Amino acid sequence: MSELDSETAAGLRRVVEPIETAKTLPPAVYRDAAVFDLEQRRMFRSGWVGLGRADRWKATGDYTTVTIADVPIVVVRGDEGTLRGFDNTCSHRANPVMKGEGNCVRMQCDFHAWTYRLDGSVHAAPSMQQTSGFDRADYGLHEFSIAERFGFAFVSLDHDPPDIDEWLTDFEAMHLSWSLGRLVTGRRREFYLDANWKPFMEVFNEYYHLPYVHPDSINATYLEPDAVDDVKGSFTTQFGLTDGTGALLDGMKDPVLPVMPGLVGRDCDGVRYTWIYPNMTFATGSEAVWMYEVYPVSPGRTLCAQTVCFPPETIASDGFEAKAASYYERFDVAIDEDIPFLQRQFHGQRSPFARQGRFSHLEPSVAKFACWYADRLLADD
Ligand SMILES: [Fe+2]
Repeated sequence: MSELDSETAAGLRRVVEPIETAKTLPPAVYRDAAVFDLEQRRMFRSGWVGLGRADRWKATGDYTTVTIADVPIVVVRGDEGTLRGFDNTCSHRANPVMKGEGNCVRMQCDFHAWTYRLDGSVHAAPSMQQTSGFDRADYGLHEFSIAERFGFAFVSLDHDPPDIDEWLTDFEAMHLSWSLGRLVTGRRREFYLDANWKPFMEVFNEYYHLPYVHPDSINATYLEPDAVDDVKGSFTTQFGLTDGTGALLDGMKDPVLPVMPGLVGRDCDGVRYTWIYPNMTFATGSEAVWMYEVYPVSPGRTLCAQTVCFPPETIASDGFEAKAASYYERFDVAIDEDIPFLQRQFHGQRSPFARQGRFSHLEPSVAKFACWYADRLLADD
């Protein structure tokens, strides 16, 4: 029994075709609450979801709280350095255990002071001595699967998560040059977007809009890209040469920071754009990697996080912060140019007369994601 209305399901079936004949995702998937609920269950409560860079949690006890598919989660660097994730819901009366982010020795709920160790087990539950048969061992926090790969962190809310290495399959082979695992975060910032989460990811992964949205900032840097790579993992990736570094604004062709060690040949002279489905995307310049992860709040509201990473030698080099400012400016300028378009686009997607479009050859990663997305929503049809 389909959970999609027949028109949306028919629209999605027209997406699952080669880019030359496919239609774009139907407007309903950007606006409808019922579709939003379904994608939350199919894409955010199952499979793997990106949490950004794993160096957000450096030391034992470093924690952050995040909501994914309406599930409150606390991510914490546990003893022995293992990154762990728990339902951030007290086993007593479901109050959130932790708030915000920081460092803790134990996780304590502020409602009735139930206290949990970093492995989620109950350390203390005050005034429960007279409760018949109460055994603290039965009331630990529900634990989720967490994986760290290539310096990225992932969480799965699945009861039976897919193997993360099968999920990513050929990801490593496509990204060997950039030594992603050893990059260090230079800056991370969060902001809210009043638009659906998918167009944010889409616009980051296509060249089509560059001359129109970024005519004076980054368009002149980007040359005609290579064909999109044919990959098996749950991601899409496309490399393109640039005229000078892709990580600085037009007019600044020469890198201000060192080229990453290990880059050779064409990898030195372009940018690889990768979208790990569903919610994490990054670009590899020759000196830096810049990335976003998104957390859908509602069809029209999205929490976005931007992270910029560099090799550790670069961060340790003289004058790093002053030089990095030029990079941060380039990433901020570009995304600030995109955002008004995304917010206006969300208005258009809510029109009852909005229709499915067609793809340009300049947006193959958008078409690849659309196929993956449509397949998952249609899975039970
Ligand atoms: Fe853009």
